[in-house]
Amino acid sequence: MKGIILAGGKGTRLAPLTEVTNKHLLPVGKEPMIWHSVKQLASSGITDILIVTSTNHMGDVVNSLGSGKRFACEFTYRVQEEAAGIADALSLGEQFAQGKKIVVLLGDNIFEYSIRQHVEAFAEQPEGARVLLKEVGDPERFAIAALDEKQIIKIEEKPTEPKTNYAVVGCYMYDSQVFNLIRKVQPSERGELEITAINELYLKQGQLQFSFVNGRWMDAGTFNSFNEANNLMLLNDNKILHDI
Ligand code: DAU
Repeated sequence: MKGIILAGGKGTRLAPLTEVTNKHLLPVGKEPMIWHSVKQLASSGITDILIVTSTNHMGDVVNSLGSGKRFACEFTYRVQEEAAGIADALSLGEQFAQGKKIVVLLGDNIFEYSIRQHVEAFAEQPEGARVLLKEVGDPERFAIAALDEKQIIKIEEKPTEPKTNYAVVGCYMYDSQVFNLIRKVQPSERGELEITAINELYLKQGQLQFSFVNGRWMDAGTFNSFNEANNLMLLNDNKILHDI
């Protein structure tokens, strides 16, 4: 399996902090935010990793991460020229993936526990996709999944009237169909290729599995959640916890 970390976008919700640097290079605890995603993938046994970021910050991202040697990983880099959405950023990974299964992390998502058990569940899955869910208090900020007893029945991106509190977090696992599915979707009203549209296509095919995130999770893209992520990582000395 291969890993893809998406670290493009504009980070406007964290301006002015993001005027001169990339959101994913801001500190959480004692390390740059993007190191967390790398350590999450490495903790799941994924060491062949593509990093996607914007033109203006690629140099700084490479300066921070290097070749991957420090993390016992191997990095490949690609530039996303316009912040055209998460699925657009992911489309840059087609050649890198070489038809293998991929685990995609949004570079601003911080997980208290290792995602390893979810990656292992996906490795067992014969086909399709897997998303992770977490109950949240502010569902309007996220993609929200409606569930029946056993499965996801609908996903809505940032609904004004959320049907549940189950956020689809920024860790997505896909088989090789994903790149063809990205070619099928159109930009949303905000002009982005939405990752939720891709997850909805897998759902329609009856190929979307899910699991629940263990422990705390945050999307560090706003000042409050960035602060929370920073506090959690300081408390845990930037270590990722493992289930017993
Ligand atoms: O954190 C989970 C949420 O992340 C999901 O519940 C939503 O479905 C998903 O759309 C996303 O929502 P955000 O509003 O937080 O997305 P944001 O624009 O902040 O982008 C998240 C990450 O994706 C960001 O850290 C960098 C990467 N990204 C984003 C865009 C728009 C790119 O690499 N390129 C892009 O063009």
